[in-house]
Amino acid sequence: MPRPASPARPLFAEVVDLLRASGCVFAEEEAQLLLSEAAGSEELAAWIDRRVSGEPLECIVGWAGFSGLRIAIDPGVFVPRRRTELVVSEAVALLREDLAVGGRPGIVVDLCCGSGAVGVAVASQVPVRELHAADIDSAAVQCARRNLAAVAGQVHQGDLYAALPSRLRGQVQLIVVNAPYVPTDVLPTMPLEARIHEPRSSLDGGPDGLDLHRRIIGDAPTWLDLTGRLVIETSERQAAGTAAIMGAAGLSAQIVYSEELDGTVVVGAPRLK
Ligand SMILES: C[S@@+](CC[C@H](N)C(=O)[O-])C[C@H]1O[C@@H](n2cnc3c(N)ncnc32)[C@H](O)[C@@H]1O
Repeated sequence: MPRPASPARPLFAEVVDLLRASGCVFAEEEAQLLLSEAAGSEELAAWIDRRVSGEPLECIVGWAGFSGLRIAIDPGVFVPRRRTELVVSEAVALLREDLAVGGRPGIVVDLCCGSGAVGVAVASQVPVRELHAADIDSAAVQCARRNLAAVAGQVHQGDLYAALPSRLRGQVQLIVVNAPYVPTDVLPTMPLEARIHEPRSSLDGGPDGLDLHRRIIGDAPTWLDLTGRLVIETSERQAAGTAAIMGAAGLSAQIVYSEELDGTVVVGAPRLK
């Protein structure tokens, strides 16, 4: 690392300069965080090296802020994005509506859970009877286990619903999902930080980005209870596609967009026959 440890300059300014020179857009905020979290000058230097080489800040300090919580993040685990807080707020609103009309806390599933941020945030805001989270990646599963311990949730490893205990079939009140939805040919245009430090399997959604959505939505009706709901993140551009997949699976679909979070979700519910 270039270390211009000029005694005349405050450390903060030096760290900001190094981060800015490497292309960090929020160099001041990042410098502040690195300085406040590092245990000493050796760790600080190592962290600056890692950040300058493009590793996400959250993997370096070991946590991400999400829905007002500190979520533990391990290297190689997808860093939860602010736009995904829309999945949480929609899910919490639906669960509160159910409770308001006399419903009991039910079973919530966070599919493609990564760090488990979405499930933890939901269960922190509204009572749930059981929280289950699942991911195919072992690093994500280990990380999610640490995070879900705070809300007594269970984490399973495997391919989508195959990871879940079969007793949950037809019993789930709410499925929350932020699955990969980046079209394969868009991956090379993504920021270096995501391309190099987040596994491709956490981003790649296939040719139109909706491969995982087809599988998740297609099987959702067999896991949801009669009044269950599915809240799935998508992009503004892909929302109509995600909603059409819901229609084909016999679910009603409502597209919700938040300008503040720059997030889009589709909320699905089984249609009454
Ligand atoms: C975009 S990341 C989102 C993680 C987390 N939901 C969040 O919002 O922070 C997608 C996650 O889906 C997982 N994943 C990809 N394919 C999967 C599959 N077939 N079954 C289960 N999980 C999968 C990845 O390992 C990754 O953790």
